[in-house]
Order: sequence, then structure tokens, then C-alpha cells
Amino acid sequence: MQKIALSEVKAGMKLAKDVVLDDGRILLLKGFTIKPRYIKKLEAYKVPYISVEDTMVDPEEISEERVYEDAFTNIKEIMECIRYDQEVDITSLKETVNDMVQHILNDDMVFMTLTGIRDIDNYTFLHSVDVCIYSVITARALGMSYDEIHELALAAILHDVGKCKIPLSILNKPGKLTYEEFEIMKRHTINGLEIVNQLPGLNQKIGKIICQHHEKWDGSGYPMGLKSYDIELGARIISIADVYDALTANRVYRKRFMPHEAAEYLMAQNECQFDPKILQCFIDNIAVYPQDIIVLLNTGEVARVLPSKGIASMRPRVSVITRKDGPPIFDPYEIDLRNNPTVFVVDIIS
Ligand SMILES: [Fe+2]
Repeated sequence: MQKIALSEVKAGMKLAKDVVLDDGRILLLKGFTIKPRYIKKLEAYKVPYISVEDTMVDPEEISEERVYEDAFTNIKEIMECIRYDQEVDITSLKETVNDMVQHILNDDMVFMTLTGIRDIDNYTFLHSVDVCIYSVITARALGMSYDEIHELALAAILHDVGKCKIPLSILNKPGKLTYEEFEIMKRHTINGLEIVNQLPGLNQKIGKIICQHHEKWDGSGYPMGLKSYDIELGARIISIADVYDALTANRVYRKRFMPHEAAEYLMAQNECQFDPKILQCFIDNIAVYPQDIIVLLNTGEVARVLPSKGIASMRPRVSVITRKDGPPIFDPYEIDLRNNPTVFVVDIIS
């Protein structure tokens, strides 16, 4: 074990001790492999040094981190180029999206622990990547072909590209939009279609899916008010991923929903907002609480989530490893939240 300064921390190192903040909150737990986003987190909290094991993990094992970062960087660059009327090259976005699809086809849970991270400046870009991940997981489960999945993935990562033409004062407004502002905001669907149709190398279907991502199953959506199967399959998938991801992210004007609350919200909207069959498939195939994330329970216990998927992952089994304000627990014990209705997740720690 060695104690090293933050400037020397590299991805692939393994934490030998918990990283605890001055106020007692646990930032990262012993045994975690350092990934690029954890380094940013350590920098943000100004952690001066950490203790790491002498051995490192092969960087190949954390390659999904690189793919996620690449996707984020690519969509950010493209959206910024479009906002400032600069030339756009989507070759590298197409390659990264291809990489993401391959990763998910090999292992549909590969990115689940990376989703849900938000910082205010990068909200739209991180949201776009997450919507892409959830959409591909759903498309894979629906048995769509590789070409269809790849097309859907591009539409999903670009679904809000039309927001580049919305004034920042409306886009970043912390409060509720006025009627007029909302009417302008709604135009991002048609803007998206127009932008994508001008980008070389993207087919017309992608623009069509993007234009329809706010249409609703019962016809109450926009811009056209299309109903049920008149809405493109891709748009029906993206609309579910979009709402789920938006609910689980912290926004300036409201605290985020816990993932199980967002899943319950979606299920309550069944048959009005979303295609019921696709919604069922979405819930069955995403991990609401992915394996190994650390959660705080209403009992004050801090626990690691054990593997589960679909409905079961809304009330997963967890292994309690410590207590928020209490002494450490040397013998972790399990709680199955399905059998303990009074115990629930109140926060996600990491
Ligand atoms: Fe949108």
C-alpha cells in the first residue's frame, strides 16, 4: 500500500482505504478501481492524497470509461460547432457510437454504473450519451437488427441537437418556462430534423426519429401530435429513455428522483405517454440500481447493490458495509429490499 498525492493518481490504481470527506461523507470506497471520472471527483472535492494498492488493474478492463468519455467529447464538440455555425464532422461520432453499440451488444450492463452523472455545464451532453445507452439496451432486448440499432443510437445521441438553435437564456433558465418560451423550446424537434438532414452521412430516418422524440403514445405530444404506431419505433424508444434519464438527474430547479421513483413514474404513465410494450421492455432490461453502486438507505445504513435487473432492481438486494454516522461494520450483511418494505434508497453515494 502507498499514499500518493492526487497529481500522481492514475486510472487503474486500486483504492487501499476509503476516501472520506471532512464532513464524514464517504466519497469512494476501499477496493474501487480508480477511473478517469473518479479522478475528476477527487479534484472537485480537493482531496490532497489517497492510499492505493501496489498493483494496478489493466486499463483494458476500464475501456468502457474511455468509450463513454469519447462519446461525451464528440457530442459536445458537435453541438458546440452547430451552435456557433462552424463546420461539423460526424465521422468520429459515428465511430464512437459504433464502439458503444458493440460494448452493449457484448454486455448490456457495461455502461450502467456510468450513467446518471451530471454537472450543470455539461447537462445536455451527458444526458445525450445516457439516452443513447438506455435506447441501445432496449433495442437489443427488442431484437432489433444491428443496422437498426446503430441508426437508433445515432438518433438517440443526437436527439436534442436542435437545442443548439435555442437561445441559452431559455435553455439554461433555472425556473419554469413561460408559455412563449416553451413554444420556442418545442422547436428543438424540428430544428433537429433540419440540422441532421444537412449533415452528410446521416440518413433521413435519423432526422425523422429525432423530430418525433417528444410525440406521445396518446397523441398529446409535439410537434405533430402523432399517435401510437404512427410514431417511429426509434422515437418511441428514445422518448422513454429521455424521460427516465431527465427524472434521475439533478436539475437546478428540483432535486432528482431516485431511480426507483423514476421507474414508478414511467409505469404510471403507461398507455398514455409511452408505447406499453416498449416501456415494459425498458423496465425489464435496465438496472434501476446497477450492481456495485453504493446507496444510502433510510435506516442510515450504507450498502453496496448486489446484481439484479429489471423490476427486481427497483428493490434490489444490498450488502450493508457501513453506517452513515456510526461505527464501521466489519461483517457486511445482506438486506433484500423486496422483503423489507419499510427500507428504501434515499441517496446514491457513488
Ligand atoms: Fe428533447
